Parts: sequence; structure tokens; C-alpha cells
Amino acid sequence: MSSNHSTHKAENSPRAHHDSSAIPAKTSITFKLNNRETTLEVAPWTTLLDALRERLDLTGTKKGCDHGQCGACTVLVDGVRINSCLTLAIMKDGAEITTIEGIEALSDGSGLHALQAAFIECDAFQCGYCTPGQICSAVGLMNEGKARTKDEIRELMSGNICRCGAYPNIVAAIEQAMNANNQPEGSNGR
Ligand code: FES
Ligand code: FES
Repeated sequence: MSSNHSTHKAENSPRAHHDSSAIPAKTSITFKLNNRETTLEVAPWTTLLDALRERLDLTGTKKGCDHGQCGACTVLVDGVRINSCLTLAIMKDGAEITTIEGIEALSDGSGLHALQAAFIECDAFQCGYCTPGQICSAVGLMNEGKARTKDEIRELMSGNICRCGAYPNIVAAIEQAMNANNQPEGSNGR
């Protein structure tokens, strides 16, 4: 990000020495990332999105707008969906973070997470750029347990934009996964 680069340059210049002494250049943070303890040093201004993509090579999480408006960067923090572009990495020291790369591990161990399988079955993507964010957001939605109807799914997924307009299939996929999740063993799903 250009602002970060300019801040780095400013801090390295002799004139900015006083400012850099006030703010530590790097801070060590540790979090559980996709079930693995992860420690890294980050600048205080590094977003969680940039830490994931640029420092940890987890490029499944996408940068769309970088302004909290598209949802492409959605990840789960302690089971709650957040926009990682609006979150500083140091704020998540000690948290449990799940990205699209770790979603399968949340399943019962028999393969893809139900939402991943439903997205494939319902053909819920075209270019796929929004899909990691859609799936992470939908996992968060299911954790919240607030959506019951198609309209509620649409409303509560409205922070995730799909420029390909795959919305009907995305909603169908989430509804399918929710129904599978709520279906008691041996019931017919009604
Ligand atoms: S990249 Fe974070 S909301 Fe768009
Ligand atoms: S599938 Fe292309 S942006 Fe959603």
C-alpha cells in the first residue's frame, strides 16, 4: 500500500527519527491460524489482510476494494466473520483465525465443508474472485444462526458483493448447507 511505503520511508529518514521512536517499527504477534500456531512480526499499521496475503502467502483471501465495501477479504476470527482489510493484524494477537484455506478442516473430516460442497453443487460462482469471502462469510452466518429464509440470507450476506451476479446460486448454496446442517439424523428435512 502506498501509504505504508511512504511511512516506511519517512521513518527511515533522519528527520523522522523522533516519530519512529514513538511507534515500534515491528511487533511480534501470535495467533492460531487455520489450526496452526503462527508467530510473525508486523508493523502496527499492517492490516490482517496484508499479513495473510503478503507475509503468510495465504492468497485465498482476496483484496477487492480494501475499504470494507466488498467482502472479498472476509475471514473468521474466533468464529465471527470480519473484513480483514479493516482490521489491523496486531489487534488479533491471541485470536483464532480461519481463512478459506482452513475451512475444510472445520468439516466433520469427511472432505469439503458443507458450504464448499454446496457452492460446487449449486454452481455458485463464475470467476470465483468473491467466492472465498462468500464462503467464509456464510460460515459466519451459520455460526450466528440468525438466517432462516432466503430473504434473510440475502440480507445478512449483503456485505459480500459478487460482480458476476451469481447471487441466486450463492443463496441457494447457503440455503442447502443450512438445511443439511439443521437436519436431524434420520429426518426428511421438513
Ligand atoms: S477488500 Fe475488504 S471489504 Fe473489500
Ligand atoms: S463469482 Fe465473480 S465476483 Fe462473484
